[in-house]
Amino acid sequence: RSTPEGARDYLVPSRVHPGKFYALPQSPQLFKQLFMVAGFDRYFQIVKCFRDEDLRAERQPEFTQIDLEMSFVSEDDVIDVVERLMARLLEVDGHPPPALPMRRITYEEAVSRYGSDKPDLRYDLPLVDLSEIVADTEFRVFRETVEKGGLVKCLCAKGAEMSRSTLDGLAKEVEPYGARGLAWVKVGTDGHQGPIVKFLGEAVMQSITEAASAEPGDILFFVADTPEVVHAALGHLRTVLARRLGLIPEDGRFDFVWVTDFPLLEYDDEAGRYVARHHPFTAPHPDDLHLLETDPGKVRARAYDLALNGYEIGGGSIRIHTPEVQQRMFEVLGIGEAEAREKFGFLLDALEYGAPPHGGIAMGLDRIVMLLTGTHSIRDVIPFPKTQKATCLTTDAPSRVDPEQLAELHIQTVGVEDSSVDS
Ligand code: AMO
Ligand code: AMP
Repeated sequence: RSTPEGARDYLVPSRVHPGKFYALPQSPQLFKQLFMVAGFDRYFQIVKCFRDEDLRAERQPEFTQIDLEMSFVSEDDVIDVVERLMARLLEVDGHPPPALPMRRITYEEAVSRYGSDKPDLRYDLPLVDLSEIVADTEFRVFRETVEKGGLVKCLCAKGAEMSRSTLDGLAKEVEPYGARGLAWVKVGTDGHQGPIVKFLGEAVMQSITEAASAEPGDILFFVADTPEVVHAALGHLRTVLARRLGLIPEDGRFDFVWVTDFPLLEYDDEAGRYVARHHPFTAPHPDDLHLLETDPGKVRARAYDLALNGYEIGGGSIRIHTPEVQQRMFEVLGIGEAEAREKFGFLLDALEYGAPPHGGIAMGLDRIVMLLTGTHSIRDVIPFPKTQKATCLTTDAPSRVDPEQLAELHIQTVGVEDSSVDS
């Protein structure tokens, strides 16, 4: 059934029940949890999932998960199973084994140091926080950003030689992420060069180059904005610079990193409320549970993602297993008791029976195959993939259907041209 939260559903009209719809599964999330409640202590499935989302190079509307769930486990148990699975996958595909245990970093560290919750750690190139150093500078953009609680961070491109037009091109790269500018400074042997140098002054420039470990020949790139914009913009620029400067080792290495302690919720400006970052069944960190109603944005989740070379290849969590906490979670998400009953009654009932603590993860099989085969497009590893606009080039799907077929499904189309002719 269609449930709120998560990506948009693909709906299937019911012929037998006029006006009612099935939803293609986005994942078997609740069903695997019901298995755990029913007493199965472990489950796995290679499963097709469907999501009506905006497509990107690593996303398809129909994709495959290696989905698993276990009862009486903690984060470490799930992580251990997946690490051994990944090691075996690499071995089967003829790659050297990964170093186990894999690295783990918190979400906060990933975002503040690399500007991404799925950082590519084949190279370092960290974001450097300069907010304190520039708090009193004469450069108004920087000073006012810090005054308003924003951040000023920079990246240091080592030994980069770039023309003015290349620098302008890089500024264009960060625009889609909301950055209002990309300031740069060329570090020289005697003095620095760039439009903001004269505003910053020699002493501040000295502190900046020290903080960024910059040497003559390097170029520093700055973004001043809200933390979200700074991290998104510089996180993207980090990957662009890495490619441009040849920082990505070409030895075909696989660099895994677990990202842990995600925020449980994030504020959705459009909806005007908090939404679950992972899904509404993820357990809050016990130390933060008391903040659920008073400071929801501060609550950490018992969630973990596995990132590989800058791609998210899996995500999961320890689940909520008591009806009380599940009900509180629904309330924070603006799902009232009646709606929760109507939409998730079967889950709340199941939790009443005394559900075991449980947790799991789903691995993105297509993305793993994409990375193992060394390509950057998921379309290369899925037969008859959909285009960016979610069409099938082979069959021209989606297509119009006969009026009779629509009538049978009790469907009337409005606002589209004559549904009997295909354009
Ligand atoms: P999640 O939504 O994080 O978790 O999905 C798990 C993994 O599936 C892959 N993935 C995709 N691959 C290709 N195209 C897509 N459109 C797409 N969407 C997701 C990613 C992602 O890491 N039920 C939970 C798992 C759990 O909590 O156990 C879930 O579906 O690699
Ligand atoms: P201006 O004084 O607006 O001409 O800006 C001087 C330099 O600072 C230009 O290179 C701008 O791209 C850059 N700049 C402006 N706003 C920001 C910002 N929010 N973050 C980083 N650089 C900025």
